[in-house]
Amino acid sequence: MYKRLYAESVNTPERFWGRQARELLFWRRPFKKVLNWKLPHAKWFEKGQLNVSENCLDRHLTSGRANKAAMIFEGEAGDVRTLTYRQLHQEVCRMANALTALGLVRGDRAAIYMPMVPEAAIAMLGCARIGVIHTVIFGGFSSEAIKDRVNDCQARVIITADGGWRRGRIVELKENVDRALAGTPTVERVIVLKRTGHEVPMVEGRDRWWHDLVASQPSSHKAKAFGSENPLFILYTSGSTGKPKGVLHTSAGYLLQNHLAMKYVFDLKDDDILFCTADVGWVTGHSYIVYGPLSAGATILMYEGAPNHPEPDRFWALIDRHHATILYTAPTAIRAFMRWGDAYVKRHRLDSLRLLGSVGEPINPEAWMWYYTVVGKKRCPIIDTWWQTETGAIMVTPLPGVTPLKPGSCAMPFFGVVPKVLDEQGNDVPRGSGGRLFLAKPWPAMLRTLWGDDDRFRRQYWSELPGYYFAGDGARFDKDGYLWVVGRIDDVLNVSGHRIGTAEVESAIVSHPFVAEAAVVGRPDEIKGQALVCFVTLKNGIEATAELKEVIRAHVAKEIGSLARPDDVRFAAGLPKTRSGKIMRRILKEIAVGGVVKGDTTTLEDFAVVATLQAEE
Ligand code: WT7
Repeated sequence: MYKRLYAESVNTPERFWGRQARELLFWRRPFKKVLNWKLPHAKWFEKGQLNVSENCLDRHLTSGRANKAAMIFEGEAGDVRTLTYRQLHQEVCRMANALTALGLVRGDRAAIYMPMVPEAAIAMLGCARIGVIHTVIFGGFSSEAIKDRVNDCQARVIITADGGWRRGRIVELKENVDRALAGTPTVERVIVLKRTGHEVPMVEGRDRWWHDLVASQPSSHKAKAFGSENPLFILYTSGSTGKPKGVLHTSAGYLLQNHLAMKYVFDLKDDDILFCTADVGWVTGHSYIVYGPLSAGATILMYEGAPNHPEPDRFWALIDRHHATILYTAPTAIRAFMRWGDAYVKRHRLDSLRLLGSVGEPINPEAWMWYYTVVGKKRCPIIDTWWQTETGAIMVTPLPGVTPLKPGSCAMPFFGVVPKVLDEQGNDVPRGSGGRLFLAKPWPAMLRTLWGDDDRFRRQYWSELPGYYFAGDGARFDKDGYLWVVGRIDDVLNVSGHRIGTAEVESAIVSHPFVAEAAVVGRPDEIKGQALVCFVTLKNGIEATAELKEVIRAHVAKEIGSLARPDDVRFAAGLPKTRSGKIMRRILKEIAVGGVVKGDTTTLEDFAVVATLQAEE
């Protein structure tokens, strides 16, 4: 089955995707052309019209799913709420009406900075319903990060909450928004959900409570149809410069590939309950909490808080309590659970589970085996899914029940995907050897551009080797043709599954008045995958103290968010540089892992710098 369909999908992609699009999506007006590919710009399903929100909601109301649970929500404190498709539809209609009442129209941008509560999905779908482009900003980001993103896309509205719960404490979302709004001239309105109930200041004329504005709107809304390529969302992600990239996704292709992934990768059954533990602030949340599952009419389980609150067995308790059948999580979480110990898992039955998934970084075979044995009781296949914010949907993965599994390998390309592992000259490297990972064909959920920066889009993804999409990862095919992704080969780190650009952290550090220069590298970390090690040179006359290390760590957390707080700050008199002044990160990496500097140092400007750095180790 897979072989035949895969062959069709790459040999006659227009036939394959055209058929899938007709079968799986609800069209208001049929498309005329499946793909218009003018490298690097793709248009999928031209002339077709649809509404993404209608595909995720309305169509299920008439197909017998009106009273099916769309969403089961559990708050960190244990509060549980279930929303049927009918109820979710009503809430989304209210949101669409509220945004319209505020004057928002198709093409406007709205930022969403929310805790993990159903209203986050309601806000996204409400935007989608009226063609407003949403940009979800992960709740762990700081006010500086909110400001940069809101200004980059010129959002007119921010949808937020008074706060959210994390390990029993309040995350001050509204406070962060207020601070950001001191520097965001485009924002006219703030919609504030009451979640924690603690007191927050409301600015007259600007801020509106959700329960006043949204809850009073009519619960029906006639959705307009939009073109297939109507922008759906912008999601900012880290790259190799200090400025995050606004990855733009559009409607029909994005929805289709995610719907298809639900069908084949998650092998969705009508009684499945999908527990995807990602935050909606990341692409995994967009695609596998909101758009994919709802388009496919699934039930999702959403959890607000920390995996170890009140105890390190929270996920397992959630699975038993709500009978989750699929768990989709990240290797960093799996490794943390491993460290916390099997006993927490064994307290629970977990017999509702039938499928396990992994995403976000390479999963080490040891963690894979633990996941398979202790969590899945050797009954549940593991889908190790490789993809990216930019790819929009799963690209390489085993299919459950179809692909024999190999711990640590993401296995085989999904339909329509042609991965290549190539060398510097663009030749296929022999099986078993490492190279750079490229994609040789356009795919429906691919990013269309970077918001406001098409040049960067071309440079970043399409200029490494002409005609190929450059993923930024290193990889190899083994002798059986299985793909093994090793990790990023650009200046992007993967810390606890969060993508962090070294340049972003460096620019945050040098914005501190005491700092002259900084270089950030990754060091392998047992739990987090990679840890952030920062080499910092101070301005003349500034004393290198232990307190200053803490100040710098806190400064980065304030500038970007606590997810980017450095694990290690090391002061250095100088940084190793080439004669042309480029920082030699390779050397810093070797120092960071505590080894001696081995490789070639002939281009190094001043070896004494390395000697001192090593001595300080
Ligand atoms: C990078 C993309 C896709 C949603 C979450 C991350 C790494 C992702 C895997 C995997 C090995 C993986 C890659 C990729 N990655 N999944 N199954 N095996 N590596 O999205 O923040 O855009 O990060 O995550 O390095 O390039 P993202």
